[in-house]
Amino acid sequence: MLHVHREIVKGVYYIGVDDNYTELFENLWELPFGVSYNSYLIVDEKVVLIETVKNIFTNEWLDNIREIIDPSKIDYIILNHMEPDHTGALPRIAEIARNATILLSPRAVQMQESLYDVPLPMKPVADLEELSIGKWTLKFVHVPFVHWPETMMTYLVEEEILFSCDAFGSYGSLNGKHFDDEINMELIEKESKRYLSTIITTYFKFVQRAIKKTIDLGIACKVIAPSHGPIYRKNPMWVIEHYDNWSSPELEKYVTIVYGSMYGHTLKLSHLLKKELIELGVEVKIHNISYSSIGQVITDAVKAGVIVIAVPTYDAHPFPLIWNFVSEMDTKRFTPRPAALMATYGWMGGAVKNLKEAIVEKCKFELLEPIVRVRARPTEEDVKSYKELARVIAEKVK
Ligand code: FEO
Repeated sequence: MLHVHREIVKGVYYIGVDDNYTELFENLWELPFGVSYNSYLIVDEKVVLIETVKNIFTNEWLDNIREIIDPSKIDYIILNHMEPDHTGALPRIAEIARNATILLSPRAVQMQESLYDVPLPMKPVADLEELSIGKWTLKFVHVPFVHWPETMMTYLVEEEILFSCDAFGSYGSLNGKHFDDEINMELIEKESKRYLSTIITTYFKFVQRAIKKTIDLGIACKVIAPSHGPIYRKNPMWVIEHYDNWSSPELEKYVTIVYGSMYGHTLKLSHLLKKELIELGVEVKIHNISYSSIGQVITDAVKAGVIVIAVPTYDAHPFPLIWNFVSEMDTKRFTPRPAALMATYGWMGGAVKNLKEAIVEKCKFELLEPIVRVRARPTEEDVKSYKELARVIAEKVK
């Protein structure tokens, strides 16, 4: 029989599932390579389940557990995080593992009741509380807001395995290659950066706090086993260092231009600016908001030293997709930085006023001068203006 589960060390197993069907994570972020919902089983004197999976995969996941043990024998169900991609199969496993106790953080108790209210006893665990399960010890480490306020990680002390939940996760399904020494790490680097940038940008400072906390506690990680993406057994430091870098507030020395365009004038203006910046020695990433995936736009913008917004007026407001992106920069609490604005219009404009307010007052960005305003196609005067803007941007980013 073909087994799906994987042994991490004897008695500790990966029992998760791949999702190659869902097109948008949270119905927002593209999944061109799928995603995995990782779940783990520890078989000691007590049988411990770490997290469940999205509900549509319940039967497949139960079969994975049955490869190892009768699921009715589970003693503890650890819910590191209540989001339904981790807890969707909880109602079903609660029907089967009738003697199990749910271990969760105190803030998760009410969430469990409001999301599922399964008829199993719940035992809230304190930050750094330990629990003996036989020859092994579990330690619970609260990491609020990585990703929700109730989130925690579980550490298997003697084996030095950190079940890190959303932290250190990645998009991309595993397709039988569960470990970092089996997988294409180039793809994982792209997909974990995109995962972090789309889902957890708002909580970057909490990611930084969680990394510092695990280091300060002296938690040695022989293995990092997140809830999405590969398990790091060859080089756990790779993912810690990358997450640390991606979530740090330091910006990088490149410019991201995000533009919308209906009839090509803003497109032309954006590409003229790009060309000018490249000639000034500046690295540029550029996105047409109508065709790039919003997740990739956010990923390429979140660390940009300068962000340029180029926008036509639409119904006396900014082009709607650009407005959505600017709102996301505010919602995701992008680190304040210099930003530039280029606006095209047909007869009276209207985009600049709203964008200025959003960029300066909400995002707290420094708005660079000049603001380039172009009526339809760029005139010679406009050309001078965007060239001056390129010079100002180049000064800022270098
Ligand atoms: Fe993987 Fe916050 O859910």
